[in-house]
Amino acid sequence: MTAQKILVTGGAGYIGSHACVALLEAGYDVVVVDNLSNSRAESLARVKTITGKTLTLVLADIRDKQALTEIFSEHKIYAVMHFAGLKAVGESCVQPIRYYQNNVYGTLVLTEVMQEFAVKKMIFSSSATVYGEPDTVKYSEDLPVFGATNPYGKSKAMIEDILRDLSTADVLTKASHPWEIILLRYFNPMGAHQSGLIGEDPNGIPNNLVPYVSQVAVGKLAQLSVFGGDYPTIDGTGVRDYIHVVDLVKGHLAALKALDDSSLNIRCKAYNLGAGKGYSVLQIIAAFERVTGKTINYKIVERRSGDVAENYADPGLALRELNWKTEKNLDDMVEDTWRWQSQNPNGYH
Ligand code: NAD
Ligand code: UD1
Repeated sequence: MTAQKILVTGGAGYIGSHACVALLEAGYDVVVVDNLSNSRAESLARVKTITGKTLTLVLADIRDKQALTEIFSEHKIYAVMHFAGLKAVGESCVQPIRYYQNNVYGTLVLTEVMQEFAVKKMIFSSSATVYGEPDTVKYSEDLPVFGATNPYGKSKAMIEDILRDLSTADVLTKASHPWEIILLRYFNPMGAHQSGLIGEDPNGIPNNLVPYVSQVAVGKLAQLSVFGGDYPTIDGTGVRDYIHVVDLVKGHLAALKALDDSSLNIRCKAYNLGAGKGYSVLQIIAAFERVTGKTINYKIVERRSGDVAENYADPGLALRELNWKTEKNLDDMVEDTWRWQSQNPNGYH
């Protein structure tokens, strides 16, 4: 039997490169389309080292319809894992057009070409940010997708809407070959592949907690600013649901399998990918100190606007329907982050 071929958009990036490893190890063929706007081809060279397998990299932008058409003409694609997107919250507030152009329009071009080639299975990288600021700390999929606080988050909510509309159109037109779409709402991905060969390689000074702390630990940055010490949480600092990137990509493989499960009959459905448990900023700092043996220099400063005190996933639906749950704990996540960071202090550069 020939292997199913998966198109991975944004496959050279942090999560996409880990997905490529998981797909190749599970016996899929992989075609990556990436414009390398936030990544380097070196990540994929390392994917080949880890797996001992090859993949195809097409250097192109997902907004380039001609390039996508060529990919679908040349390769018999079974399904698309759609990671390509811009993801910096602060940047999205000052460059909203760029974010909507890249993320929303890019997805429109991609789905248009998929539809033309009758490839209608997609796993989409959404985010817990689509829940906005609900009145609860435990987010389940039945909460309204409402009130994302920034253009990045809104672009994810808009794309979810567009994908749901594709599915609704299939119902209205009684399509014989309908869209099968899973929206995966990630909580806070961290960690790296156990080899230490691939990991998160942010451009410039990181915005997110984990890459920031690990760059303090490795001596690249002097001090972490802890945004707020007076939240109504266990120790006053923000609490989030951190998920190991290897667990996260296993969730994508589980989702891919679920599309073939006729008892689930998935048309367009969202699932949270999180551990169901939160850690505070100070708990993350303590874990880094424990694992690395280094002291993390930090200072508590003002809250960051747009932050909520606490959130974590209700991961029950993914367990029941995708048969997926996280397997790695906080120490695994920090150890793997640290192996990557200490072996590659300058990322792929
Ligand atoms: P990343 O920036 O490392 O990877 C994204 C990849 O997409 C990069 O390789 C980039 O070059 C590529 N890309 C961007 N725009 C493109 C375009 N128009 N055409 C072709 N390639 C393009 O980010 P990541 O952390 O791996 O995130 C992957 C996806 O998951 C993104 O959609 C992101 O919004 C989503 N997500 C990430 C997180 C997180 O914390 N990392 C959380 C929730 C959701
Ligand atoms: C952020 C984004 C979210 C996005 C996610 C992944 C905001 C408001 N939310 O989530 O939309 O999907 O990243 O890209 O930006 N912290 C510090 N010091 C730092 C950095 C962070 O104390 O230098 C704290 C934050 O206040 C928060 C926690 O660490 O309590 C996690 O922050 P971060 O890693 O940025 O993730 P989120 O804010 O959860």
